[in-house]
Amino acid sequence: MTERTRVAIVGAGPAGLLLAHLLDRAGISSIVLDSRTREEIETTVRAGILEQNTVEILRETGASDRVDTVGSRHDGIELRFDGAGHRIDFAESVGRGVWLYPQHEVLKDLIAVRLAAGQDLRFSTPVAHVSDIESDRPRVVATGQDGRRVEIEADFVVGADGSRSVVREAVTGSHGGFFREYPFAWFGVLCEAPPSAHELIYSNSPDGFALISQRSPEVQRMYFQCDPAQDPDVFSERQLWDMLQARVPGATLHEGPIFQRDVLRFRSFVAHRLLKGRAAIVGDAAHTVPPTGAKGMNLAVADVVVLSRALEQLLQGGSAELLAQFEDTALARIWKAQHFSWWMTSMLHRTADASEFDARRQLAELRTVTESAAGRAYLAEAYTGWPLPA
Ligand code: DHB
Repeated sequence: MTERTRVAIVGAGPAGLLLAHLLDRAGISSIVLDSRTREEIETTVRAGILEQNTVEILRETGASDRVDTVGSRHDGIELRFDGAGHRIDFAESVGRGVWLYPQHEVLKDLIAVRLAAGQDLRFSTPVAHVSDIESDRPRVVATGQDGRRVEIEADFVVGADGSRSVVREAVTGSHGGFFREYPFAWFGVLCEAPPSAHELIYSNSPDGFALISQRSPEVQRMYFQCDPAQDPDVFSERQLWDMLQARVPGATLHEGPIFQRDVLRFRSFVAHRLLKGRAAIVGDAAHTVPPTGAKGMNLAVADVVVLSRALEQLLQGGSAELLAQFEDTALARIWKAQHFSWWMTSMLHRTADASEFDARRQLAELRTVTESAAGRAYLAEAYTGWPLPA
């Protein structure tokens, strides 16, 4: 039997769930499908920084009432280099801020709100393929929790299914997209300790990059630059603390038991196309940014805001005018975020072949940014998030 909905959404990550939420508020039904279990989605640790735009959307649409209670506002970050810390004051520079609120907490909020609204949200339902996207009755074929074939006919299909998207190929064809690889990765740890600093520390050191982030008053998230082929299990906890500490010269880290470690490989990617007929891709299905600067989830939210407006106009007003602008509007922001993430990465990391010239030039770049009000404002504007289109 073929089921019917207005929008079939593949992927119950931040992009898919928020889209379902925004469409529902406009009276548009959807079905959300994800191959993962609810437990997997709610417990996988991802990034932790939300732009002010993201927080405003979550708050104003009733998607998260915990962002202000469990999350906390940060009015700046520290850039650390040459043995000293240099604060970028977001409030002073641009009058905006960011929130430390882990992505899996956002997902818990969105799932709870969607289920409370009686939304059709199906876990453990892997999508095999999408078809007929150039007709006005696109289809999604999946395998349900009971092993039976699920076939959904919709007015529109959205691929919000992450970097290994199955919807992407239907949209981009064999063209794929634009790539950039990086010769390093991040070694991430979660530890039980109090925060080492009031705000996040991004550090450029002779031993390479480190980021001192937080999760809660009791749990901290830290990263240091490593080889992409690094085996996470070879280091003792003592070695990990020594490596982290060496990468934030002049600061003292609060240590505690490390209960999770992982190696995050990273790259930049932007799909050639985001839209074909009656199918679109958003979030990590459409683009990947290196993690420095925490743009990933915020960019997914911005894509979804733009797409939801276009779908409302198409499915309720019968006009495809905003849909025709979706790709250009979304790509303009995506490329700016690509540039910002690349810039933060290149300014803060050491490559194996970097010369003494490169190292000194990098320090001069960091001074150019931190010693000038215009430099600080440039970073602060991008980090806290450019305005969303009106
Ligand atoms: C975190 C990750 C980032 O990439 C970043 O720039 C800031 C914070 C985090 O996981 O906490």
